[in-house]
Amino acid sequence: MPYTYLIIERPAEGVALVRLNRPKQYNALNLQVLQELAAAFRELDQDDSVRAIVITGNDKAFAAGADIKEMMEKTAVEMKNAPFISGWDAVALAQKPVIAAVSGYALGGGAELAWACDMIIASETAVFGQPEINLGIIPGAGGTQRLARTIGKYLTMEMVLNDRRLTAQEAAQFGLVNHVFPVETYLDEAIKLAAKIASRAPLAVRFGKEAVLYAFNSTLDAGLQHERLLFYTLFCTEDQKEGMHAFVEKRKPRWKGA
Ligand code: CAA
Repeated sequence: MPYTYLIIERPAEGVALVRLNRPKQYNALNLQVLQELAAAFRELDQDDSVRAIVITGNDKAFAAGADIKEMMEKTAVEMKNAPFISGWDAVALAQKPVIAAVSGYALGGGAELAWACDMIIASETAVFGQPEINLGIIPGAGGTQRLARTIGKYLTMEMVLNDRRLTAQEAAQFGLVNHVFPVETYLDEAIKLAAKIASRAPLAVRFGKEAVLYAFNSTLDAGLQHERLLFYTLFCTEDQKEGMHAFVEKRKPRWKGA
């Protein structure tokens, strides 16, 4: 499907790269970008040749948030009825692992797009923030919840109530970013990480992601039960037999995704 504001590439085996491409507006997320994002993620999540997805912007901006000009005269009902949140939801609900490769501004809904991903690779120039308070609103695409669950109440409060921004290094220190690389290499590094994950046992990757995300929505007891169920279920797969036999036979496993 042709997109106006997205470029989809296949930079490595099993890896899809989704580039936000609205550079003059710092990749501000208008309704069309969000709808394209939702369609692209639904499509890539169904595509068996895709095992991991990288989402990126450009070196100056991952995304500067939801489109303020488009939103400014909207009513609450219009905001609720528009498929506004579908873009973030499609990223957050993907079953395949999703890596955000972030450089420059990741603000408001742009930061929330990164928080919806499973891992974040940042360039040294990345700046993360929830500046919605300056507009008389609060984050509406998961920022208050995903941040509080990741970095805790106090720093989240400062970010949401007082537009505290985080450099890439700070974000890494607080556990929001997996790795920080120079701007010249962050995207290649994100693709390399995605390719490595794409080469692993597909069902185990999928179940591993599901188990970790379960921790965000459940009590410890329910999470442990769910993890155990997924763990036992993997013993129904050919890949579990292959992985363990390959270890014992001192050879590389050949994954089938079955
Ligand atoms: N929406 C719409 N347009 C935006 C935008 C946004 N979020 N961010 C940047 N732009 C546009 C600017 O309006 C400008 O367009 P024009 O040339 O047509 O005037 C262009 O991008 C360049 O921006 P600036 O001139 O402001 O560039 P700068 O280098 O001085 O500053 C910036 C860059 C720091 C990113 C600044 O543009 C900025 O602060 N942007 C807004 C960030 C923000 O508040 N994001 C939160 C949005 S609300 C939200 O996301 C809600 C939610 O939770 C879902």
